[in-house]
Amino acid sequence: MAKLVCWVTLLSLVVFCNSQSEEEGYCTSAADQLMCFKTTLDETNEGDALTTGQGQGIGDIANSKTAGPRGPTLIEDALHLKELAQFDRERIPERVVHAKGAGAYGELHITSDFLEKYSKAAVFRNGSSSPLFLRFSQVAGELGSQDTVRDVRGFAVKVKTEEGIWDLVGNNLPVFFIRDARLFPSFIHTQKRNPQTHLKDTNMAWDFLSLRNESTLMLMYLYSDLGTPASYRRMNGFGVHTFKLVNTEGDSVFARFNWRVNQELRNLTAEEAMGLAGKNPDYLLQDLYENIAQKNFPSWTFTVQILNADEAENLHFNPFDPTKVWFTDEIPEYEVGKLILNKNQNNYFAEVEQSAFDPANMPCGIEPSPDKLLQGRLFSYLDTQYYRLGVNFNHLPVNRPVNKVIANSYRDGHMNYDNDGGMPNYNPNSFMKASALPRYKESTYRLDSDIVDRHEPANDNFFQATQLYESFSETDKIHLAQNLARDLKPVFPFIRERALKNFEAVSSDLFDRLQQIL
Ligand code: HEM
Ligand SMILES: *[C@@H]1O[C@H](CO)[C@@H](O)[C@H](O)[C@H]1NC(C)=O
Ligand SMILES: *[C@@H]1O[C@H](CO)[C@@H](O)[C@H](O)[C@H]1NC(C)=O
Ligand SMILES: *[C@@H]1O[C@H](CO)[C@@H](O)[C@H](O)[C@H]1NC(C)=O
Repeated sequence: MAKLVCWVTLLSLVVFCNSQSEEEGYCTSAADQLMCFKTTLDETNEGDALTTGQGQGIGDIANSKTAGPRGPTLIEDALHLKELAQFDRERIPERVVHAKGAGAYGELHITSDFLEKYSKAAVFRNGSSSPLFLRFSQVAGELGSQDTVRDVRGFAVKVKTEEGIWDLVGNNLPVFFIRDARLFPSFIHTQKRNPQTHLKDTNMAWDFLSLRNESTLMLMYLYSDLGTPASYRRMNGFGVHTFKLVNTEGDSVFARFNWRVNQELRNLTAEEAMGLAGKNPDYLLQDLYENIAQKNFPSWTFTVQILNADEAENLHFNPFDPTKVWFTDEIPEYEVGKLILNKNQNNYFAEVEQSAFDPANMPCGIEPSPDKLLQGRLFSYLDTQYYRLGVNFNHLPVNRPVNKVIANSYRDGHMNYDNDGGMPNYNPNSFMKASALPRYKESTYRLDSDIVDRHEPANDNFFQATQLYESFSETDKIHLAQNLARDLKPVFPFIRERALKNFEAVSSDLFDRLQQIL
C-alpha cells in the first residue's frame, strides 16, 4: 500500500519524497511529519473552517475583540478567553518515574503449547494472537530529559487479551535495586533532584545505594554498557518479578517472563552516550518512530522460566527476591512466542502520555507471587494514575481492553465517556443476565509463606554479582570500572569507601581496577 509522495515547497524549491503508507498517513522521516500530514488533509478536509471546541465559527484567528481600534480587549470576546483558558490547562502531571518514553502498537503471538499446562490464561494458548501497546522509557529524568543517559529503561507491555488487560510492566535489566517496596519512594528521591539545589546529586544516590547493598548486582548491570542501550529495538526486556501461574486444576507454579531481542543487542559506550545526549536528546525516541514508520518492525522472543513449588522451596536463594536473577543455566528458559511492534501512535499525548500500565492488571491464570517489591507495585500504579489521569482513564482507547467490559458498578466521575446508560448500577441485581467470572478463587499461599519468611544471609547480596562480573569480557570489565569510577569520583570519601567495600565483596579484581582509576 506504500506510495511515493513528493512535494515541492515554493520557498526553498526542495523536493521532499517519502514512502508514506496510505492508511496510516505517517512519514518515514520524523522531520517530514507536517508535510505528510498535509497530504492527508488535501484528500479529506482541505478548506474546512476552523471552529471553537463547541463548533462555532471563529472568523479572525489573530486579533482579539477590542473597544475601538486601540482600546482594551473586551471580556465578551469569549473565543479569545477560551483559547487562553484551554491552553492554560494543557499540562497534566508527568509520571513520577519513567516520565519520558516512546510507545508503539504491536502483537503478541504464542507459538508453543508450553504454557497451557501451567496457566489457564487464554493469552497463553498456542496459536493465540493479542494486540498490544508497548511503552519504553527512562526512569529518572523528566519528560524532556536526554534519551541516552545511564539509566534503566522501562519495557512496559499492555497485552489486550480476550480475558482483559495483562500489563507486564518490566525493565531492560533482569533485577532491581531494592527488594522491599517500602524503600521505593526514598530510592527514587535519590535518583531525582536534590531538594535544595535542584541538581542531580551523586552523593544522595551513592549514599542510599551503598547503604542498601542488595543493590550491588543491579549496579553491575547499570554501570556496564547495558546501562546505555543503543536503541530501544536493541535491548532485552524482563518482567523482573516472579509471578504465579495457575492452571484449570488450580495447580500453581512460579514463573519469570523475558523478552529476548531479535535484532542484534547493541549498547553505547559512555563517551558515545554522552555525545548523543548533547547532539540529539531524543535519539531513542526518533530511532523507534522512524524504524516503525519505515516498516522495519522490531520483534522480541517471548520466553518463560518455571519453578514448581518444590523447586522454589529448595532453591539456594529466595526465588521471590527481585534483586536476584534466575540465570538461565540454572533455571531453563523456554521460548513461547513472539512480540512484534508494527504501528506508531497517531497522537503522542493521547496515546503514549495517557497510557497507563499497572502490574496489578492480570487476567485469570496469572497472579502475583509474594515478592515484596511486586506487592507494593500492585497498589502504587492505579493510585498514581487516579492522580495523574483521573478516575476514568480506562475509557481512553489506548487503555481500553478489547473484550467486552461490563463494570456496571463503576460510575460517574470526571470525564465519564461511557457510563453504561440505564444498566443497573449495583450488584447483585435481578435485571441483568451477566454472571460473575471466576477469579482468584483457587489460589492460596499454602507453600509460599515458608519461603517468603526466609531471611537472606549477609553474603547473599553478592554472589550473583560475582557471577555476572566473571561472565564479562575484558572490555566489559574495563568499561564497568571506568563508568563506576567516573560516578564515584565526586562522591564524599566516606560514601565512596562504603561503595568500594561493596564492590570488593563482588571481586577483588574489580576493587583493584576501581582503586587504580580513583
Ligand atoms: C515498589 C516498587 C515500585 C513502585 C512503587 C513503582 C511505582 C511506579 C509509578 C508510580 C509509576 C508511574 C506510573 C504512571 O504514572 O502511570 C511507575 C512507572 C513504571 N515503573 Fe515502576 N515502580 C516500582 C518498581 C518498578 C520495577 C521493579 C519495575 C520494573 C520491573 C518498574 C517499571 C516501571 C515502568 C516500566 C514504568 C513506566 C510505565 C509506563 O511506560 O507508563 N517499576 N512505577
Ligand atoms: C503450536 O502452534 C504452532 C502454530 O502456531 C504449530 O506449528 C505447533 O505445531 C503448535 N504446537 C503444538 C504442540 O501444538
Ligand atoms: C555491549 O554490546 C557489545 C556489542 O555491541 C557487546 O560486545 C558487549 O558485551 C555488550 N556489553 C554488555 C555488558 O553486555
Ligand atoms: C551488606 O549489608 C548487610 C546488612 O544489610 C551487612 O550485614 C553486610 O555486612 C553488608 N555487606 C558488606 C560487604 O558490606
